[in-house]
Amino acid sequence: MAEFWQIGGHVQRAGRDSGSLGDLNGGSVGVGVLGPVLFLDDIRDGQVWLSALVLTRDDGDLAPLICDDGAAHPFRELACEAGWRVMRARFRGEARSTIRYSALGTTYELAGAFGGNLNIAFASCNGEEHGDLDRDPEERNVMWARLLREHKVRPFHLLLHGGDQIYADEVTQGHPLSEDWPDHLPKDPSREGLEDLRAHLRRGFFERYVSFFLGCPDMLALAATVPSLCQWDDHDICDGWGSLRRSRTYSPIGQTLFDVARETALLFQHACVDGDLPGRFHDPEGLSLSWRIDLPDLRIVAPDLRSERTRRQVMGRIGWEMMDDLLNAMPTRRLIVVSSVPLLGPRLSILEAVMVAIPQMQKYEDDLRDQWQSRAHRSEWRRMLELLRSISELGQTDITIVSGEIHLATRGTMPLGQGRVLHQLIASGVAHRAPPNAWARVLGWLAVLGDSPLSGAPIRMQRLPGQRRRYVAERNTLTLRRVDGEWGAIWDLEQSGPTAPLPV
Ligand SMILES: [Fe+2]
Repeated sequence: MAEFWQIGGHVQRAGRDSGSLGDLNGGSVGVGVLGPVLFLDDIRDGQVWLSALVLTRDDGDLAPLICDDGAAHPFRELACEAGWRVMRARFRGEARSTIRYSALGTTYELAGAFGGNLNIAFASCNGEEHGDLDRDPEERNVMWARLLREHKVRPFHLLLHGGDQIYADEVTQGHPLSEDWPDHLPKDPSREGLEDLRAHLRRGFFERYVSFFLGCPDMLALAATVPSLCQWDDHDICDGWGSLRRSRTYSPIGQTLFDVARETALLFQHACVDGDLPGRFHDPEGLSLSWRIDLPDLRIVAPDLRSERTRRQVMGRIGWEMMDDLLNAMPTRRLIVVSSVPLLGPRLSILEAVMVAIPQMQKYEDDLRDQWQSRAHRSEWRRMLELLRSISELGQTDITIVSGEIHLATRGTMPLGQGRVLHQLIASGVAHRAPPNAWARVLGWLAVLGDSPLSGAPIRMQRLPGQRRRYVAERNTLTLRRVDGEWGAIWDLEQSGPTAPLPV
């Protein structure tokens, strides 16, 4: 705990034990304040716009956040649930200089300017479907501790969260309307019943987010000086959201679940509420949570693959509008695409065909439908790859895709023309334990076949530096590093340790 105080990221002990999430304290000591957790709202006109999120159990005012220039920025209450108030202060600094701020009695300094060498951390799949709240935090958060250690040696500028920031799968339990979600739903639930369900779910989602913050001081320490950028995936809502049958997704229960998941994702992953979405979002209404950030010689774009997803489409009008706009945007040297589901992977169509033929494998067929490579999405998949190829050709832009989702580490490549190569880096998960080695081997065999959705541009799954197999069954995170304009990728594998840098 002492070390924790020195680095930043705040857990303040309150004198009283208030709030009904008291069981989240892990003992009799009440934790009163959590944060600040920084988010990168936007970069515009040479200014970095940031949000600082603080959770407090106290009903008094928080002292304002103070910037280097002495300007005071008040904390505003965004939401309140079960005794926890979600507070946010917005502030800004110069994009090309070091940013300092003071909050909760501590002064914090960010890694440095965004214009030169860069160090970007990527994490995904922060949890597990069953019993995540009951795991030993030390075991669960090992990779977060390692990210913090790395941060002390080579400070990170940004922290990308590539999906499944929480695993909400169990929040539907314990309420009569959602107990059997998504298999059986009560017909015609009453208005009162749905309101009661909403309250139950809201508490459940809050519990997931607050538990993580409470149980992972290392992440808080990191997040106080490294701005986060998040894009959600299905488990931030429920397993397979968007790939479920319409009768589930569009039922009153499904819509209530999505509403609450979205509200809490806005709060805890974006430090905002409806009506005040930060400038990086393409749609100010947030019907799609797709966003884009333009840094010097670097653009990061994160299409939302969940809000507009149906069984027949991965993205809708808004997501595609943002992606198509990239063709007309001022060219940049490097484009990083955060795709919560990998864009390049092994040929899954064979597996999918087998699963369709065997009724007992229906559930796995639904899982495959969640992939870009599913035959249900093949034309949309090709459209996305063609678009990336055009962006690369027109703007002389190098493109790197980062994804999580599969709870393994691997990478893939696809030629883009003009000697450029599209790199797909997969790092997953930061807390989700790896599937059995046998599954990694099956995927490795499938990967030998390769796939060529665009003619003349074969996808190849490749080995990480120093690894014998294409898929590594270890928990892992990824660092993207820009040194003197050259980019490299380093995976940190739980057992094997960090890989040598891979030029990308
Ligand atoms: Fe996941």
